[in-house]
Amino acid sequence: MMKVVLANLLALLFMCTCACVFYVLTRLESRLERHRLGFPTPGGEPDHPGPLDLPPKTFRALLAVPVAQKLLFGNVVDVHNLSGPSEQFDTFRDSRLSVSNRGKSRGDPLMLSELVEDGVFWSEQLEAQLPVGFTEEHTRDWRERTRGRPIVSLEPGCGRISNRLATFTDGTKACVRYGINADQVQGETLTYYLATLLGIPNLPPLTLSQLNLESEQWAAVKGSVASLQWGGKAIVSLTEWVANLTGVVTPAPLRQEGRGLHPLREELENKTLGELLELVQWSDLILFDYLTANFDRLVSNLFSLQWDSRVMERDTSNLHKTPGGDLVFIDNEAGLVHGYRVLHMWEKYHSALMGSVCVFRKRTAQRVIELHRLKDARTRLLQLYRESEPLAPELGFLSDEHAGILQNRIDRLYKHILHCKGKYSQL
Ligand SMILES: Nc1ncnc2c1ncn2[C@@H]1O[C@H](COP(=O)(O)OP(=O)(O)O)[C@@H](O)[C@H]1O
Ligand SMILES: *[C@@H]1O[C@H](CO)[C@@H](O)[C@H](O)[C@H]1NC(C)=O
Ligand SMILES: *[C@@H]1O[C@H](CO)[C@@H](O)[C@H](O)[C@H]1NC(C)=O
Ligand SMILES: *[C@@H]1O[C@H](CO)[C@@H](O)[C@H](O)[C@H]1NC(C)=O
Ligand SMILES: [Mg+2]
Repeated sequence: MMKVVLANLLALLFMCTCACVFYVLTRLESRLERHRLGFPTPGGEPDHPGPLDLPPKTFRALLAVPVAQKLLFGNVVDVHNLSGPSEQFDTFRDSRLSVSNRGKSRGDPLMLSELVEDGVFWSEQLEAQLPVGFTEEHTRDWRERTRGRPIVSLEPGCGRISNRLATFTDGTKACVRYGINADQVQGETLTYYLATLLGIPNLPPLTLSQLNLESEQWAAVKGSVASLQWGGKAIVSLTEWVANLTGVVTPAPLRQEGRGLHPLREELENKTLGELLELVQWSDLILFDYLTANFDRLVSNLFSLQWDSRVMERDTSNLHKTPGGDLVFIDNEAGLVHGYRVLHMWEKYHSALMGSVCVFRKRTAQRVIELHRLKDARTRLLQLYRESEPLAPELGFLSDEHAGILQNRIDRLYKHILHCKGKYSQL
């Protein structure tokens, strides 16, 4: 009897060890993936057709004429006017903060008609109850408290060894990220500014700093910097450190076996308000990671499913939640630069995910439509980046090729929104 138990225990131990080794290896693999460089850049347009199934002719007709856009989107989305960066955190909370469920008690299930407007947009009612995210004012204030200010300590607490938790004299904290190469800091920074341009308020404020041990900012932590072997005059990114973050499991509809997110009764009704507010933010997350080709959140998980069938039951990488329900998108260094270099590896996952979401925040859709219409993603992003970040000239900007890929992804996303609109709205 004892022997059998012992044998079983040993077998169990063996299996656990195997599982652990396997897990560590797969994490290692994805880590390596991130840092392996010099992938050949994908030649021109990736051949994946994307999730569109409207005949191309219909598209061209619709896309060519602003009047057709007006017809499709009506007054819901102002296709002509993308508000400038200074308005990016516009109205969407303040005045409507107190709007509750319009007389409904919180327990009643919300009807589809209360959740979705004009076919494919989250309703005003739902938007009004979203957590506010990082506002423009908050961002300005945080930058003021960190840019050029003295750092008093550099400690662990922000992930891997090349990230440090910095504390400023007034107690403000930031995660400092030292890029192993320029791509990473550029990716992190430009991804942040793209979010700002799109009005996506889920990324913590970011500033850049150039290492200089004689400067007021770095003098007190000279020793730490030296022992970290952070080289010369490297540019590092500082992002706001956010307290009390928790993990986030990918919602069932967005997992591999899920059906995606559509403006349908069976998908949205009977969800709690909390679940709905999270889904609203996820809809932005999916579009955003598609545009930046950031594989280091959901897409790498989808990929890992091949050998790790339970990956989706664990917390999503590089995504957290505040106690107030804000999703916080951190660690965006794979976006735009590295993500575009390795696009050929991940594009089918990116496209499939983007294609699985057919309900959008109006503001995000509006900005995508405008960036599509004016074909000026590069110009606007560069302008915002230069205006906001004194070290922009030092860090540099997207190559022409990558700027082209960004515009191309905006155009494809636009077509996808149009496709959803056609499918779910009665015209
Ligand atoms: N801005 C932040 N605020 C609070 N905690 C953070 C922040 N950034 C990172 N962290 C913590 O560090 C962990 C790893 O962060 P991440 O930026 O993803 O680093 P890595 O490069 O190691 O993947 C996160 O899971 C979180 O616990
Ligand atoms: C866009 O907005 C500006 C000011 O915000 C306004 O002057 C201009 O007429 C608007 N353009 C269109 C096409 O609505
Ligand atoms: C974080 O949690 C601690 C302990 O519950 C609490 O005292 C603190 O106010 C919280 N901070 C924020 C910013 O929510
Ligand atoms: C929502 O829940 C109610 C009551 O539990 C049920 O009658 C209804 O069919 C559900 N609706 C959907 C779309 O699942
Ligand atoms: Mg990370």
